[in-house]
Amino acid sequence: MMDEIAKYNKERWKALAEANALFTRPALHLDPSREFGDFQTPPSLVQNILERLSSSGETWSRALEPTCGRGNFIEGLLKLPTPPQEIQAIELQDNYVQNAREWTKHSSSTRVNVRQSNIFDLNFQKDLQWSERGRLLVVGNPPWVTNSELGSLGSENLPLKSNIKNLKGIDARTGGSNFDIAEYIWLKLIEELASEQPVIALLCKISVARNVLQFAFDAHLPIAHASIYMINAKKWFGAAVEACLFCVEIGTGEPRYEAAVYQDLCATEPDFITGIVEKRLVADMKAYSLVASTDGVCPVTWRQGLKHDAASVPTY
Ligand SMILES: C[S@@+](CC[C@H](N)C(=O)[O-])C[C@H]1O[C@@H](n2cnc3c(N)ncnc32)[C@H](O)[C@@H]1O
Repeated sequence: MMDEIAKYNKERWKALAEANALFTRPALHLDPSREFGDFQTPPSLVQNILERLSSSGETWSRALEPTCGRGNFIEGLLKLPTPPQEIQAIELQDNYVQNAREWTKHSSSTRVNVRQSNIFDLNFQKDLQWSERGRLLVVGNPPWVTNSELGSLGSENLPLKSNIKNLKGIDARTGGSNFDIAEYIWLKLIEELASEQPVIALLCKISVARNVLQFAFDAHLPIAHASIYMINAKKWFGAAVEACLFCVEIGTGEPRYEAAVYQDLCATEPDFITGIVEKRLVADMKAYSLVASTDGVCPVTWRQGLKHDAASVPTY
């Protein structure tokens, strides 16, 4: 199963690169904030997230921040009433690493290690040496950038690539080969940390959460529990996207491929449940059940993406 994810990740990325290479123009310049999907999480949002995650009284001995930026989640973790005994954090950009390392001096009871690395070069299982054992929380906010944005920036901030789906050049035009690198990071974390049975809670686009749930079903990943808390990305990050805190508990037992969707981090009751019906993800399982009888094979062939396909015509 885990081999399947690794293969999927590797091959999907190769497809993306091959498809995009057919169309991508040479980079004009590299904007670091775009290249690294850089939206630092405001400390007050970090606090709301950690309060939400701790609301059932749960505590963690260990925490991992996979792309820690200037360290706002490290600060939040250290300020918890019961902070983890060990925090490991990873970041690529030098100035952020220096900032985040300041937090290593702030606590005598928590061991904090900030590592300057590219997460695509690391194996989270083999390369992180933990001193502590016990419950592991993976928390943070991976880069908000898609492979096609990186392609147009000429960026190499991408993992290794290959082609499982035999995608063609046209897929780069129709959006079929485009996806968020956060999706890759999610699958890498689930694959490499499955044996630790962590809780993984990351800010991401809602589309990323949906793709991860669908892939988890397709690949029979051991998801014990999942929930989605909507966040106002415009307010917190000035970004016009639907975003959420996606929380996944990896565990043993019968896997569940559904997520309760809460309207915000404070909500105590979910608005609806997103989940798999007949092998496909549906946004609202209850609403879908009311109209499920109308769902089926359409006799007409629908063509989507024509406007997108023609986008380069006005450019010429
Ligand atoms: C959305 S920001 C979030 C930062 C921090 N997690 C927070 O919540 O405040 C994403 C971070 O990922 C870092 N990053 C991007 N690509 C990376 C890579 N390949 N390896 C490690 N860090 C990376 C960026 O430098 C940036 O600090």
